[in-house]
Amino acid sequence: MHVVWYTAMSIDGRIAGAGDDMSFLDAVDGSGEERDFDDFIAGIDAIVIGSGTLRWLHGQGHDLPHRGLPIWLLSHDEELAARAAAADPAGTPVTRVEGDIAAVLDGIAAAGHERVWIGGGGNVAGQALAAGRLDEVILTVAPAVLAAGPAVFDHPALGRNRFELAECREYGSGSVRLRWLWTPLPA
Ligand SMILES: NC(=O)c1ccc[n+]([C@@H]2O[C@H](COP(=O)([O-])OP(=O)(O)OC[C@H]3O[C@@H](n4cnc5c(N)ncnc54)[C@H](OP(=O)(O)O)[C@@H]3O)[C@@H](O)[C@H]2O)c1
Repeated sequence: MHVVWYTAMSIDGRIAGAGDDMSFLDAVDGSGEERDFDDFIAGIDAIVIGSGTLRWLHGQGHDLPHRGLPIWLLSHDEELAARAAAADPAGTPVTRVEGDIAAVLDGIAAAGHERVWIGGGGNVAGQALAAGRLDEVILTVAPAVLAAGPAVFDHPALGRNRFELAECREYGSGSVRLRWLWTPLPA
């Protein structure tokens, strides 16, 4: 199963500013980015997200990260999971999971999924990278330095990893989209 962390970040590697301020993304050319995201999501068959991201989405008035794809919610919060599961019970199944990310990803693979999007946040992406289970990283980098806020990878023991650039695309207003594939460290 192929696991992708696709998100937007600032030059200094923050996926939001202090107080979850996302205004740094205003500089990104919305139409090009949205088209690329739509192409990406068309090739995805499951989503993994952490509770921090889902709570943030709720705060923005969104009940789910995306409709029509099964969601695995990493959380100890059963109430949050029940709220998400109730949002679109017929079309968007939500499964709450907890514990070792490798076991969680094995469970998703066992359910028959082949391409998984880590929809956030840096905490979950960091766990996947530290466990050696992140195959691809796609970052829309906005031309801003935020100095504070959640990091793109948030884990105390990430370890060294190497990625190979697969794509680099320039959007308007000085932002870029970078796509990397995981590759073994040189011997
Ligand atoms: N730039 C973007 O496009 C973008 C995208 C996504 C998110 N964001 C930002 O990122 C922020 C959230 O990211 P984050 O890194 O702080 O949080 P996160 O990764 O979304 O969620 C972390 C939380 O998920 C639960 N969790 C994670 N791993 C778990 C595990 N293995 N077992 C059980 N529960 C687990 C824990 O909470 P509980 O167990 O207590 O529930 C943990 O505190 C949001 O506030 C948003 O601003 C930005």
